[in-house]
Amino acid sequence: MSTKITLSAKPADTLDKKFTRIVLTEDAVSLHRFVEKADGTTEYRQGAGKWSEVTPRTFRTLIRSVVLSLKSHKVEWASISINRDSFPKLHQYDESWFTSTVTENLSIAAYDYTVYKSKPDTKNSLKEIVILDQNSVAAKTGFMRGTIVGEYVNHARNTANTHGDDLTPKALAAEAKKLATGTKVTVKILGLKDIQKLKMNLVEAVGKGSHNEPQFIVMEYWGSKNKKDAPLIMIGKGITYDTGGLNVKPSGSMHDMHMDMSGGSAVMAAIVAASKLGLKKNIVALIPAAENAISSRSMRAGDIVTAMSGTTVEILHTDAEGRLVLADALTYSAQYKPKAIVDVATLTGAALVALGQQASAVMTRNIDLESTLRTLGEESGDLVWPLPLWDEYKSPLKSARADISNIATNFARWGGAIEGGMFLDAFAPKNVPWAHLDIAPRMDSIPSDKLAKGATGEPVRLLIKWLETY
Ligand code: BES
Ligand code: MN
Ligand code: ZN
Repeated sequence: MSTKITLSAKPADTLDKKFTRIVLTEDAVSLHRFVEKADGTTEYRQGAGKWSEVTPRTFRTLIRSVVLSLKSHKVEWASISINRDSFPKLHQYDESWFTSTVTENLSIAAYDYTVYKSKPDTKNSLKEIVILDQNSVAAKTGFMRGTIVGEYVNHARNTANTHGDDLTPKALAAEAKKLATGTKVTVKILGLKDIQKLKMNLVEAVGKGSHNEPQFIVMEYWGSKNKKDAPLIMIGKGITYDTGGLNVKPSGSMHDMHMDMSGGSAVMAAIVAASKLGLKKNIVALIPAAENAISSRSMRAGDIVTAMSGTTVEILHTDAEGRLVLADALTYSAQYKPKAIVDVATLTGAALVALGQQASAVMTRNIDLESTLRTLGEESGDLVWPLPLWDEYKSPLKSARADISNIATNFARWGGAIEGGMFLDAFAPKNVPWAHLDIAPRMDSIPSDKLAKGATGEPVRLLIKWLETY
């Protein structure tokens, strides 16, 4: 059962006594305690550090750590009274940002994934958190936004957390339809026959080894007054399970690969959230979905496949499959004459080597788009950091046998995240701002996130901001 987050104009003393009151103090962040009050209510006091020092980044984790603490203490009902005026460093953003941020972070911290627990621990679970003393229009707007954002981040996590036997390409397509039901998002599913007809041979090649056929998921939202306005396009990697293919992954590196469709689940959630938010924009989400499996029908290292674009690709490594399916999706996207394209993919372990698990990598030749995404990353909490896409990095992919190879022909692993970006660059529509987000670093949560173990739902918050503002 999920936690209800509500907004109230009223102060704490109007609430039932069963509501634990969250009180932020200027104590150190490590300090928190429950205090029984004379009137029979309970206070939960949480240190926030000096209020003048609280930044957007620390504020988000503070909110989340409160929720984790309440959950571990089996608090069922809680209220929080929180005032933007107390935190000068948050004033760089407006009041609705503040309420949205509080709401989002309460919501994503309350999330747990218990689908595969035979006896989920639902006893005394956190039922409701009331945000008190909020009566401005901006607070209400921010709350409504934050509710939707939190909900769809959690949707993305549910999808990503589902294991590969339950979430096949067809199941991912069904999930897209389910998510879009009752909204203005339309969903078109291209099956294997359509994929073959369109000559998306890279998508087909990656999916060949599995009896679960690849699917190409097209989601469209025509929210602009003018249906002819060039759409913003999001492309999400939808590898429902990545064994590595014949270049099989070692044990210890494979078990998490049911989350290799995190990019796909994020763009799906973001486009539906955009529709729920009523954005007056045209938006398209494309998800090439396939299972990178091992069988006698799998693509081989050394196979040469003609991409949808006509470019021939030497598949030197079957585990570099994400860039293959994305290449055909980038080619497919050109027919929309997009305003801009962002692709989102758990593309490389090398991105983790470069950045750790704390930020996703952004790669683009468009400096404006890069700085926009960095700024919106800070604003939303889905942090991104740039890596270069320079022509200097082109030569390692020059194939002797085909037009391009999917990894460096000398098998060197240096700059692996950039190598992935450079491969995609060869397929991105020309003269359209395009950015590649390698979200492999943020696929799995880390303790400092103050989130449930498993999928983080990144970068749904960033994508929504991008759709709102770009
Ligand atoms: N899905 C993986 C990347 C990945 C690794 C995501 C760890 C999340 C956590 C991707 O398909 C992959 O296998 N990439 C290879 C590329 C290499 C063969 C050039 C990698 O990173 O080893
Ligand atoms: Mn792989
Ligand atoms: Zn992969």
